[in-house]
Amino acid sequence: MDGMKMDSMSTMPHLVSSTGIFKRLLSLLRPQARKIALGLILLFISMPAELFPAFVWMYVTDALIVGKPTAPSLFLGQWFSFGGRINGWPALLVSALAFMLVLYLMYELFSTLSRNVMERVAQRFILELRNRVYRKLQSQSLAYLQRQKTGDLMSRAMGDVDELQSFTVNGIDVIIGEGIMWFVTVAVVMALDWRVATASLAPLVVVYLLLKVFNRRVAPIYKAARDRAGDVSTRLQENLAGVTVIKIFGREKQEAARFRAATSGYYDQQIKAINARSLFFPFSRAAGFLTNVSMLGVGAYLILTNGGFTVGKLLMFRAYWWRLFGPIQTLARVNDMVQRAIAAARRIFEVLDAHDEMPDAADARRVDEVRGDLELCDVTFNYGNEPQRAQSTQREESDSTAPSSNNVVATADSHLRSTSSLSASVSSVPSVVPNVLDNVSIQISPGQTVALCGPSGGGKSTILNLLLRFYDPVSGSVTLDGIDVRQIQRDSLRSHFALVQQESFLFNESILDNIRYGHPQATMDQVVAAAHAANAHGFISALPNGYATFVGERGVRLSGGQKQRISIARAFLANPSILLLDEPTSSVEPDSEAAIIAALDRLMTGRTTVLTSHRPSLINQADVVYVIEGGRVIDSGSPNELRQRSEWFSRFMKSAEQPQEAEAVN
Ligand SMILES: Nc1ncnc2c1ncn2[C@@H]1O[C@H](COP(=O)(O)OP(=O)(O)OP(=O)(O)O)[C@@H](O)[C@H]1O
Ligand SMILES: [Mg+2]
Repeated sequence: MDGMKMDSMSTMPHLVSSTGIFKRLLSLLRPQARKIALGLILLFISMPAELFPAFVWMYVTDALIVGKPTAPSLFLGQWFSFGGRINGWPALLVSALAFMLVLYLMYELFSTLSRNVMERVAQRFILELRNRVYRKLQSQSLAYLQRQKTGDLMSRAMGDVDELQSFTVNGIDVIIGEGIMWFVTVAVVMALDWRVATASLAPLVVVYLLLKVFNRRVAPIYKAARDRAGDVSTRLQENLAGVTVIKIFGREKQEAARFRAATSGYYDQQIKAINARSLFFPFSRAAGFLTNVSMLGVGAYLILTNGGFTVGKLLMFRAYWWRLFGPIQTLARVNDMVQRAIAAARRIFEVLDAHDEMPDAADARRVDEVRGDLELCDVTFNYGNEPQRAQSTQREESDSTAPSSNNVVATADSHLRSTSSLSASVSSVPSVVPNVLDNVSIQISPGQTVALCGPSGGGKSTILNLLLRFYDPVSGSVTLDGIDVRQIQRDSLRSHFALVQQESFLFNESILDNIRYGHPQATMDQVVAAAHAANAHGFISALPNGYATFVGERGVRLSGGQKQRISIARAFLANPSILLLDEPTSSVEPDSEAAIIAALDRLMTGRTTVLTSHRPSLINQADVVYVIEGGRVIDSGSPNELRQRSEWFSRFMKSAEQPQEAEAVN
């Protein structure tokens, strides 16, 4: 149940130091430096206006009421009397109050403008950051994405970025605004009377020390809280995606319990954080209150002993007291916000910093026209030990020490313990990984249809993955028109392929948009022609909304065969030179299989096609068949040749007529 979790930070040394992360967060704001500068200038203008009312209090008390103006009051008297043009206390009082009001209005105006600018900065920052996370995820290799938990990634892109939002929106405004204000206030009170000022400020040293202790305590808690939020999201995502399975097997209760375990894990961390805050905040408030005590004590003492302090100054100090003490509250709050932001930023940076596992070679080129000549040459491959993975944890930077306390994360359910696999640790890969493909050589000439068949798990789909360069071989090479696919820019390479899979994925958009997904500029006529060719036009036109019909999430509103025909129409319209079909008819009924095979026939015409199938009817279409078993090519030839030669193949083909044998074959 309980256990220690090696969290991912330990594998990403540059993400260890909180200060480093904080600095990096600030550096992300650099593109907006101008706007921030504008916000700060407005803030600076508003500041004197905000500090001004306290001076009026001092003036009214010392100069008008007590009648003993001190240095600043004398100076202000010059202003309020307009250089001596106004006399007598009623006029001076009205003048002073008018100044107070006008300056307050100035403060409101400039501080509102400043806050508006800063909030825009923060929102823009969040916008850019979220899009950056998205772009990074999109550009990641399939291997990387398959190692991640979708829900956790969603939580990073949503929850963690949101956490930064409150930091940037409130944090910057408060840190910079209140921070500068605080220093200005300190300067003013120091200038007025350093003795009372020092006495008032002394207790803040205690607050500072408390803060350091608090941060050390709370940082791992906040980190864990963000990770647990990721767990909740992971569970939610998986359960929603698997809702049918849950319902069929009646596992609602158990899944609810697992979800509860995830939310409890999050709750526990929040409680820990609350406890840490409850321990810290009263002490910091108490220290703040002490400033009140020492201010009144030392101030009164100096007045009573004629130490050169006045009642007006004391009142002014008192008016500033909340300015000196308030920021301590604010500091505690802001510090808390910063700590949370750091925890969230760490998770975001883990995504942004993840090593690009399959970058294009520096000299990779675009290939605009292809003949469709494909070759796998002596390819050996496994999923577990891609050469790229070993590099993913090696970072150039390394700063500061790894806090051991960060490893403490126990959740109620060991199943939920996030492995935070973003920086896939090398140690999790067994040293000997069996190869999925072993010295596989396949030659596909332009225009040829090649079928891959063989028992399940033999490596057929893997070969398609390598052709698309979703993965790189461990050894050997994959070439297109004689060019190693690693030398071709990935988007250029993939633009020549279309892939029709067993389960076609449709977006929750209209049928029209789904068909033209690979060719958005296609005209309606072209779309209809593609649908005709895919044997889909008939059923689409029979729908009440025709091509405008929304297909539902992942196309749930369509039957398997209908979805498949739409994905074939999509491939038609994309008009690729090379067509990859991975069990395209496996999930459809024999009735609609005929329609699909007829559509595929049309689609394959004039293109290089590589298909995998357990259906003899489709294998028969091939010019050449490769039998793949256990990651090796055990035989190849035309279907007729193989029928004579290979016992496995002839049994496999016969199973078309006697489907009950199919099980034995697969
Ligand atoms: N993403 C992956 N990560 C790790 N191992 C994988 C991955 N995909 C496939 N494998 C493994 O690779 C082997 C070959 O899988 P592949 O999907 O290529 O088989 P296949 O011949 O297409 O099987 P089928 O006929 O059932 O579709 C299997 O042992 C499988 O467990
Ligand atoms: Mg497969």
